[in-house]
Amino acid sequence: MRIIILGSAAGGGFPQWNCLCPNCARARAGDPAALPRTQSSAAVSTDGRQWFLLNCSPDIRWQVEQTPDMQPRRAVRDSPIAGVILTNADVDHVAGLLSLRESQPFILYATGRVLAALADNPIFAVLRADLVQRRSLSLDDPIALQGPTGAAGGLTIEAFAVPGKVALYLEDPAAMAFGSVAEDTVGLKLSEPETGRSFFYLPGCAAMPPALAERLRDAELVLFDGTTWRDDEMPASGAGAKTAGRMGHMCMSDAGGSLAAFASLNVRRKIYVHLNNTNPALLADSTERAALEAHGWQVATDGMEIEL
Ligand code: MLT
Ligand code: MN
Ligand code: ZN
Repeated sequence: MRIIILGSAAGGGFPQWNCLCPNCARARAGDPAALPRTQSSAAVSTDGRQWFLLNCSPDIRWQVEQTPDMQPRRAVRDSPIAGVILTNADVDHVAGLLSLRESQPFILYATGRVLAALADNPIFAVLRADLVQRRSLSLDDPIALQGPTGAAGGLTIEAFAVPGKVALYLEDPAAMAFGSVAEDTVGLKLSEPETGRSFFYLPGCAAMPPALAERLRDAELVLFDGTTWRDDEMPASGAGAKTAGRMGHMCMSDAGGSLAAFASLNVRRKIYVHLNNTNPALLADSTERAALEAHGWQVATDGMEIEL
């Protein structure tokens, strides 16, 4: 199985259009230690012909043009993108669907709750119902992925609830946890039955409860939420009022961070995805990057390929 990181930044990308934080300034200046990154997405395939997107970022058009594997090969209208799987309804994970509207068949997989968010937004009807079949993922229920012709993708997917939050535009300020329910944020386990290889994709995860830790223990590969270094990074840098926790993300450092949470899980390869532009670990020459590498982590870059 092949995995390609299409976009390794969180919502807003790196640099972000309205941000002048030191990181974004360095990225704009072309600093090689501050590589620009597009918004959160990955692609996976077992045969190199049918690809499944894990989330569909607003940058999908650019990501396709940067990635020959994602480009048409067989006909005047064609795409190797056979399906899209969503982990939540956040703008950085669904807005790219609007760019896939050119009468191209594919299968859209998401929880009932995320599909309902799309159904409630009439603009997503540009994905014609007769071409883009929407299939509901039940939690903890592995299914075989299929492309639009019904051909199996050689992959099994399992969606499971992770701590998180309903999409920003659906928050109910009066409700407990802003009205979030389990199906709002999922992690994905993708497995290739033929080889027995598998990996986890969790671009958004707010905490590591024991059951999630046990699920990830001894995994071959985990691609995990790397939104911020510190929980209070956005307020401390003047970039915004919200902590990582308030946004539904676990920070890397601090007692409750992902570095500590993974320390005893024996995950063979750990890669951060979905990095916010304020995160100092984005910078290849930062002490924070050195610290996470010392914990056995890597930071994804756009175009990074992993073969399992
Ligand atoms: C997030 O990951 O917190 C969201 O992408 C925020 C947003 O929708 O901008
Ligand atoms: Mn996001
Ligand atoms: Zn910035």
